[in-house]
Amino acid sequence: MVKIAASILAADFSDLYEAVRKVEKAADSLHFDIMDGHFVPNITFGPDIVRSLRDKVDLPFEAHLMVDNPQEWIVPFARAACDLITVHVETSHHLDRLITLIKKEGVRAGVALNPSTSLGQLEHVLSRVDLVLPMTVNPGFGAQEFLSWVLPKIRTLREIAREKGLSLEIEVDGGINQATAKEVAASGATVLVAGTAVFNANDPKEAIFELKRSCGSLFSR
Ligand code: DX5
Ligand code: ZN
Repeated sequence: MVKIAASILAADFSDLYEAVRKVEKAADSLHFDIMDGHFVPNITFGPDIVRSLRDKVDLPFEAHLMVDNPQEWIVPFARAACDLITVHVETSHHLDRLITLIKKEGVRAGVALNPSTSLGQLEHVLSRVDLVLPMTVNPGFGAQEFLSWVLPKIRTLREIAREKGLSLEIEVDGGINQATAKEVAASGATVLVAGTAVFNANDPKEAIFELKRSCGSLFSR
């Protein structure tokens, strides 16, 4: 059963709660793309925005930290009530230490890879994380073109997890829509991050059901 993480990056920030309310009954989690203008050429939002929605939305919250110095942001986002914190392997020399810091906060730990980053960087931490997030766009913006050359990386990751007996979530982020969702799910993804395909749709809730149906994850509403 493929899950959908709705990325609020594509939501109407002028009425964020109203936008999130439309997906609350269909999405499996709310995905916050945290950007600092250094690791990626864009700036989004901080822990206060996450905290402002926490008591109003009945969904798990996940922070995708696209920031330099992620060690400074793990505790603030964990305490803003994120259930999952995902850090980029490219942002630290001490990935294992970051994972320990996340787990010490009692939340799930994810590691993200830019499209050009190889799986090898995860070899020694794979058994410690709950989730791996292979990016299928170069991070920084929503509504980008899906990079299909990342698909073999997703398939290899799923094979490695199977060989090692790891119950690893694979969350694919970037350019997910009706056309790409099926292929990504068939490659071994268990969670799809969708921003534009959801929040730019006339009916965001139905758009999520459509994405699930396109992966064969939902036969009836
Ligand atoms: C990129 C972001 C986006 C976002 C989803 O840095 O991480 O991938 O979550 O964007 P869409 O679904 O619009 O491609
Ligand atoms: Zn993201």
